[in-house]
Amino acid sequence: MKLSLTVLAAALSGAGAFTALNNGPRTTTTTTTELSMHQRQRQPIMAGNWKMNPATEADALNLANGFCALLNQLEDTCAVDVKEGCTEVVLFPPFPFISKVKDIVSKDGISVGAQQVYYENKGAFTGSVAASMVKSVGCEYVLCGHSERRSLFSDSDANINQKVRKVLEYGMRPILCVGETQDDYDLGITQEVCAMQVTKDLRGVSKEDMSNVVIAYEPVWAIGTGLVCDAKAANDVHKFIRTILAKMYDDEVAQSTRIQYGGSVTPESVDGLMAMSDIDGCLVGGASLFADKFARIVSFKSSVVAA
Ligand code: 13P
Repeated sequence: MKLSLTVLAAALSGAGAFTALNNGPRTTTTTTTELSMHQRQRQPIMAGNWKMNPATEADALNLANGFCALLNQLEDTCAVDVKEGCTEVVLFPPFPFISKVKDIVSKDGISVGAQQVYYENKGAFTGSVAASMVKSVGCEYVLCGHSERRSLFSDSDANINQKVRKVLEYGMRPILCVGETQDDYDLGITQEVCAMQVTKDLRGVSKEDMSNVVIAYEPVWAIGTGLVCDAKAANDVHKFIRTILAKMYDDEVAQSTRIQYGGSVTPESVDGLMAMSDIDGCLVGGASLFADKFARIVSFKSSVVAA
């Protein structure tokens, strides 16, 4: 028998299964307002970025199986565009595990994506993976511009823009990651950084293609640190990003583009984030490596948030 979302959430949180990674809000506490699914204009999208984890294929398949077992107890998850008003779920395993993870999760309506691609079609680019390759193994999404790619692998905005366009050319959906570093945050230039990244990385992307683009606001100082951004502060950045989209495109694109928050999202912080008007989902790193934590995050809407 299927458990209701509420029962599952209560069971998961009551089990004490979660470690508190969150050291508290980065800025001031805020009051949140619950958004019902009817009030949501944009389909929620929850994504798990496994990064360079887990260590082996066996561990990856265990994680996928464990997550699906919990998800099967949820009543209304779905695949891309299957049903209005439901939560879309995407997993980003490392390249070698994508096919087998997809075999496990696709029957439950979960999509898989690639953590990155190169922007050339083919050729002598040792170690690189082309958009056609990940498309051919069933990827529907590709992360572009993740801060770890920007800082550790020198992904420039020009390269990220080429990747975004290549992903769209191959009929997949880029999740464009943007966000300020600790230094940027301290300098008070969060908006400037996000505006520059969004503008440069979406250069030449048509209005029509924007329906396939998801943006993830990931403040770099919040990634893997346990410092989740205050929900209201994150929401303000999301709203600001919509003003950039309105300038680049129009109000329709600004209001219809889905914008995720990423950075130390946990079962404890997800409900407050998802109660915000302009946060449409989460891009989850560390917590997505635990089936129970990610299942609880995906089931965010079961929780009642204090008004
Ligand atoms: P954490 O959830 O581990 O902070 O990672 C966030 C992230 O980088 C997702 O892409």
